Amino acid sequence: MKVTKICCIGAGYVGGPTMSVIAQKCPDIKVTVVDINQTRIDAWNDPDLSNLPVYEPGLDKVVAEARGRNLFFSTDVIKAIEESEMIFISVNTPTKTYGEGKGMAADLKWVELCARQIATASKEDKIVVEKSTLPVRTAQAVKDILVNTGNGLKFQILSNPEFLAEGTAIEDLESPDRVLIGGDDTPEGKIAIQALVDIYARWVPKDRILTTNVWSSELSKLTANAFLAQRVSSINALSELCEVTGADVSEVAKAIGTDSRIGSKFLKASVGFGGSCFQKDILNMVYICRSYQLNEVADYWEQVIKMNDHQKARFAKKIIKSLYNTVSGKKITFLGWAFKKDTNDTRESAAIYVADHLLSEQAKICVYDPKVNQEKVYADLEYLNTRSSDENRRHVKVMNDPYEACKDSHAIAILTEWDEFKTYDWEKIYQNMLKPATLFDGRNILSKEEMTKIGFRFYAIGKP
Ligand code: UDX
Ligand code: ADP
Repeated sequence: MKVTKICCIGAGYVGGPTMSVIAQKCPDIKVTVVDINQTRIDAWNDPDLSNLPVYEPGLDKVVAEARGRNLFFSTDVIKAIEESEMIFISVNTPTKTYGEGKGMAADLKWVELCARQIATASKEDKIVVEKSTLPVRTAQAVKDILVNTGNGLKFQILSNPEFLAEGTAIEDLESPDRVLIGGDDTPEGKIAIQALVDIYARWVPKDRILTTNVWSSELSKLTANAFLAQRVSSINALSELCEVTGADVSEVAKAIGTDSRIGSKFLKASVGFGGSCFQKDILNMVYICRSYQLNEVADYWEQVIKMNDHQKARFAKKIIKSLYNTVSGKKITFLGWAFKKDTNDTRESAAIYVADHLLSEQAKICVYDPKVNQEKVYADLEYLNTRSSDENRRHVKVMNDPYEACKDSHAIAILTEWDEFKTYDWEKIYQNMLKPATLFDGRNILSKEEMTKIGFRFYAIGKP
């Protein structure tokens, strides 16, 4: 089966970049990305590529090449479904904030809505591809809806989890470690799997395209994220031990990382992991385990989240303790708000929780992030519901200039590892701060030696 038109429902951090790369690599396939959010679609269509709604290095070039040729962004969901042979579902699946499974299970209302839209709009058989991270056996639910509401048409459901990491999305999409495609082991299922394999095979070596059953594919995505998050929590747990014993966590990470069985990646101690996936996917896994009464398994994975929460709180407490046990009325500057560098995404960013902790102690926070704007910062704080919107706006200021942001502050905290922070004129920043000036490096990007030479009191994660 040769696919000539595909559409993707959801123009977010996953759908947008993934479809842009597919369109770039397959100029003969028409790719339409649809979203109910008109503002988002307008931004994807903005002639000025610096206004794309997702910031990813290299994304602007890919969009420039394919947009208008075979890549289209639209709000006409029904038309796109109708004309496409293959439909990707890439909508948000956040943790539920209400009812059964609140705070744990994935909220599947957007996925279900998508399935219903596909069922209503389809006039021919379709291949439906799950791209969003979903709990195991969601494909069955999607299939049920399609079969029971879909005008008697045939639908093949594939699971094709996305492994791209934000900030390196284009690289990850262009040369992925693997592409995983799960589908039914029936003749129709195999044809559908092959149709998707053929798309990826245009640029991904065949031995990197793995095919499995649907459930293995769904669970592999949750497992990959759980393992990665676990590594970060493991090294972060060790960072606290390093601080009291006099060991240096970077040295420990390097020493263990040279063991080829352990590997050197994902061993950077930090103020805590963030992002839309790690916490959500682990909570999801914990919820599934508990629903099968696998309580020990659930407890084991839940500890990864607890350790991460502890790391964020520990950083905030360190700031308070170092500033003579009070931050009330003190200006503390945050360098970085995004959950990692090279993205404007702030979902679950450690910065939000550290700020919340310090605001509860009446600190005045000033934020500078190269890619995150003021409204996003306020929206993130408002989402926590700890204090009124008015209070957040009074106690938190967002600046566009890092030097202005640092001026007259008691302390600076680095929350995101943006490269530009390394090249600032730290001497000048120090001169303009209140003394003693303290620098809390939550990402271990600055040299303790250089900073203390300038005069800073310096704290880094997991360093003696
Ligand atoms: C993750 C997975 O890597 C990706 O495969 C999946 O598709 C989506 O979830 P992402 O959340 O974009 O990607 O970023 P990632 O690079 O995994 O970082 C997640 C968080 O962990 C960030 O806050 C990052 O700063 C933190 N981290 C990562 C560390 O603190 N230390 C590390 O060594 C690595
Ligand atoms: P991700 O990081 O998984 O890509 P995002 O939240 O960035 O998640 O993007 C998901 C997108 O899906 C949002 O832009 C949202 O408006 C869109 N969306 C959710 N439900 C639907 C729907 N039924 N039809 C079209 N778009 C949808």
